[in-house]
Amino acid sequence: MGTILSGGFIMNTPQSRSEQIAKLFRFAATYGWARAINKAVARTRPRWLRTPFAIRRTPFISIIGCGQFAFSSVCFFLRKHKGNAFLSAFDIDNQQAESLGRYYGFRNVACSPTELLDDPALRVLYITSNHASHTPYAIEALRRNKVVYSEKPIAVTRQQLGQLSAAVWQSSGQLFAGYNRPYSKAIQLLGQHIKAINVASSFSISYVINGHQIPADHWYRNPEEGSRIFGNLGHWIDLTVHLFCMRDLPDWIDIQIAYANSAEPDDNLVVTFTTDRHDLVTMMLTSRSEPFEGISEAISVQYHTIIARIDDFRQLTIWQGARKNEWRFFPKDVGHERAILQPFCSENRDWQEVEMSTLLTLFIRDMVLDRRTSARFSIQEELIALEAEIHQAMIDPFAVHEDT
Ligand SMILES: NC(=O)c1ccc[n+]([C@@H]2O[C@H](COP(=O)([O-])OP(=O)(O)OC[C@H]3O[C@@H](n4cnc5c(N)ncnc54)[C@H](O)[C@@H]3O)[C@@H](O)[C@H]2O)c1
Repeated sequence: MGTILSGGFIMNTPQSRSEQIAKLFRFAATYGWARAINKAVARTRPRWLRTPFAIRRTPFISIIGCGQFAFSSVCFFLRKHKGNAFLSAFDIDNQQAESLGRYYGFRNVACSPTELLDDPALRVLYITSNHASHTPYAIEALRRNKVVYSEKPIAVTRQQLGQLSAAVWQSSGQLFAGYNRPYSKAIQLLGQHIKAINVASSFSISYVINGHQIPADHWYRNPEEGSRIFGNLGHWIDLTVHLFCMRDLPDWIDIQIAYANSAEPDDNLVVTFTTDRHDLVTMMLTSRSEPFEGISEAISVQYHTIIARIDDFRQLTIWQGARKNEWRFFPKDVGHERAILQPFCSENRDWQEVEMSTLLTLFIRDMVLDRRTSARFSIQEELIALEAEIHQAMIDPFAVHEDT
């Protein structure tokens, strides 16, 4: 049995040493050697190994949740751009915090989230723990007026979203979300073309996603963690909201879902949207076998005179009338680097977009858990309900009620 070097999951499937080496070379050809090696180190975390030299700076960045993504992506890009400004790490599994802290040279491994949050030197907090814990950690940090980067999803219930939005309103800190695809070069380039069209038109978008095979007992699959809908599909739901916002949002979205196997509704499914603006969107998430090079995505977008193809965020082609432009991206650019740097950049995306994509993902997550096949999402109604949640959270910020 071997440990597959994958984007975010450990899969114990039979794998020979030669396959592991082939995978390392394939990852290097996709992401460059530094990132490929870092992804492999994130899996094994040898005690003797330390990150390559990084300038030591005054520490101000802390992290909660020290798993694969924190190690292979968040700390990798922070070290690249900020040097070693790592303050404190916390994880409910102390070994995870110890190994991440040792490798990246964190000044401290915290015994509790409160110890980490109460450190006066903390200015920027990254949250990369399990999904259900993102909101409570973000709220605690916002109450201390910190700058917070929460990995996706930002909330897994409507009540969490209301409490989080209320905390954003009341804080002088800031909150950023780890939805990375809007920050990829392919989407930024496509966005420039879409925004240059000054006639409102309809979108036709198709996503085919070959996802990781995730075992049924992986924590991503738990309903209270938001299931695979928040774990994976949320990325393309969020990207669709981001693309719609380049024009403006429709009033309603009619959602249809086809399940390959209703016993496993959050995997191998097709979700379609049609809207009052005559948009047409299809998303297929399929994971019949483990993709050797990690998750792969084929995206096609048609808008007014634009036809665009994104091939796994390694290539973008845009046709517009007689014009054809092609871009290749090495390393593959899914937007992680720029998304992780949001706390240090201007011109980040509008927070309302992320609230809207979370509302839509919550709606679809509920449909999937109930095995429903069709429903209408009304943007106005959802915003009114969110406002009521925010109002409630402002009156009673410590209320806890169930609404999964
Ligand atoms: N943007 C992306 O493309 C992308 C890719 C992969 C993962 N992610 C996100 O990153 C986050 C982490 O995913 P991962 O793949 O690293 O998972 P992981 O299982 O490797 O790591 C999660 C870590 O969180 C710790 N943890 C669990 N509950 C905790 C709690 N209550 N408090 C503190 N620590 C806790 C676990 O012990 C573990 O070390 C998730 O939100 C995931 O959705 C994002």
